[in-house]
Amino acid sequence: MAIERTLSMVKPDVVGKNMIGKIYQRFEAAGLQIVAARMMRLSRPEAERFYAVHRHKPFYRSLVEFMTCGPIMAQVLEGEDAIRKNREVMGATNPDDAEPGTIRADFATNVEQNAVHGSDAPETAVQEIAFFFSNEQICERRAADSRA
Ligand code: CMP
Repeated sequence: MAIERTLSMVKPDVVGKNMIGKIYQRFEAAGLQIVAARMMRLSRPEAERFYAVHRHKPFYRSLVEFMTCGPIMAQVLEGEDAIRKNREVMGATNPDDAEPGTIRADFATNVEQNAVHGSDAPETAVQEIAFFFSNEQICERRAADSRA
């Protein structure tokens, strides 16, 4: 299985509850490594651009409101099969449908305030990583791990 990178966001609901570390523990327990991280408050145009694919959905305005209501943590996760693995760790979009033990089952409030975002495919992962990070901001960790 190939080593992949995926874009993850810890959303304003979880940041507001001071639970970033609990989410990072889930990533690390699943064998995903954080190779870049950044806290920021999305501007309205940034949130609109990030979620542009949903612009015709009835929840788009409300989603943009939510995503700009407080800071988010954006991170790049790296590991074997990272895109699928991260989505497994996150659980279904709607926490009512999420498997027990997944992040969304344990931390999400509802289908909108659902704790985390994760890229859904290799092409979107590339686009979403570039949305937040330049190549220089992503740290190579595999070389360091071999010394451990
Ligand atoms: P995310 O994985 O970030 O991708 C799109 C986001 O839109 C999703 O998580 C939710 O935050 C939000 N979303 C998806 N479906 C709905 C819905 N039916 N109602 C409200 N928000 C939604």
